[in-house]
Amino acid sequence: MHERFRFKSKDEILKKALALGFELPFSDDISPLFAPASIVGFSIPNRLVVQPMEGYDSEADGSPSAFTKRRYLRYAGGGSGIIWYEAVAVSYDGRSNPNQLWINKNNSAVFTSLNDEVRRAADQVGISPLLVIQLTHSGRYSKPDGKPKPQVAALNQTLDKRVPYLLTDDDLIRIQDQYVSAAKLAADTGFDAIDIKACHGYLMIELLAARSRQKSIYGGEDPADRFRFMLETIERIKTKVPGIIITTRLNISDGYQGGFGVDKDNRPDFTEPLLLVEELKARGITLINISMGSPYFNPHVTRPYDNPLPGQQVPEEHPLQGVIKMINGTALFQKRFPELFFIGSAYSYLRQYAPNVGAAVLKNGDASFIGFGRSSFAYPSLPLDLIRNGEADPSKICITCSGCTRLISNMRPGGCVIRDREIYGNELKKLIADGK
Ligand SMILES: Cc1cc2nc3c(=O)[nH]c(=O)nc-3n(C[C@H](O)[C@H](O)[C@H](O)COP(=O)(O)O)c2cc1C
Ligand code: SF4
Repeated sequence: MHERFRFKSKDEILKKALALGFELPFSDDISPLFAPASIVGFSIPNRLVVQPMEGYDSEADGSPSAFTKRRYLRYAGGGSGIIWYEAVAVSYDGRSNPNQLWINKNNSAVFTSLNDEVRRAADQVGISPLLVIQLTHSGRYSKPDGKPKPQVAALNQTLDKRVPYLLTDDDLIRIQDQYVSAAKLAADTGFDAIDIKACHGYLMIELLAARSRQKSIYGGEDPADRFRFMLETIERIKTKVPGIIITTRLNISDGYQGGFGVDKDNRPDFTEPLLLVEELKARGITLINISMGSPYFNPHVTRPYDNPLPGQQVPEEHPLQGVIKMINGTALFQKRFPELFFIGSAYSYLRQYAPNVGAAVLKNGDASFIGFGRSSFAYPSLPLDLIRNGEADPSKICITCSGCTRLISNMRPGGCVIRDREIYGNELKKLIADGK
């Protein structure tokens, strides 16, 4: 049964988890969050990560706007060890909305100056974060002009509303070129790492599951064919941009028929995701950011919440079950590949207890980093508060109300309508006034 977060104490939340049939890891000692780490020679000051969070607020040419800059400077001043920039399109056509960031040769100088400012702001709080750019093509969720323009890797009876455009192998080879060019630009603008985004239903994850793609070198029954596009892209980036860290935000289970990491009965099946990680490891990938589900199909899987979007059904699943599924899924990968660094997701529902749960997960060796998505919108200075005060301030915490998602799903600039009210509360008011 779904339930809003009404827990008043650690004991209440732990008791609820037990009633649901599992033990929620919890540590009063949060010091594991502050342990430095070294990834291929890069020192990361702590285990706290700003997860990628799309703001739908770029300029029309894809460059970061004043809104975008404000968000990243808030993250930078907040003390996280890794700042994972939101989804940045590799092409105009692959944008999820007309205000999605899009890196290209005409605007790369704006990314450079943003990164410079981010590094200076982080330096002022004594932190030198790893800057990761998430490169993406939105595939079936492309809306470059604000209207759906789906470009799919494979037909999917569960997801297709009408017959979408099926990308040809030639299209894919062109898109791969765009990834490689975008990666080179990203390195030149000062990013430390390139995320080849493979989650949440977009093009790359769809290719990993493209069983129904016939007569193609990038699809079919054999996982080697379905993994080819992603692995080739990585190989090409390694050659073109030597020395850059390559990583991926990877869905280990999509949770819908025909998706990646699911069996015939739609239950998680990690066989192929584990096989893929083996291949990634063989190509020198050491950092992987885990996620699950699709914001378009089963949003409660990706981000357990109190409130669904208006008009959406309240999910059956208790949000704590969503939280523990992500923890356990990440743990399975971390235990299988202890030499790699896995980032856990979906902690925001846990409010001020998230750092304690994250610390316990780290202590148990069930993840290497703890990521914060909506919490970073609401409370970007959480890491500094944890470092300085040893605890989170409940009055600043995200309440998983879905207000930020409501903004972006209506193509408005995204941010926290509750804790950053002056800007985003007003955006929500305008949206409601428009009858949306
Ligand atoms: C408004 C919004 C934008 C998001 N944008 C991205 C994105 O650009 N890339 C991505 O991989 N995940 C994105 N996510 C998913 C988050 O990174 C994160 O996985 C999810 O919110 C669960 O973590 P949390 O419980 O800490 O919020 C987004 C989520 C929200 C709510
Ligand atoms: S609007 Fe704010 S409080 Fe609500 S889910 Fe988004 S970040 Fe959290």
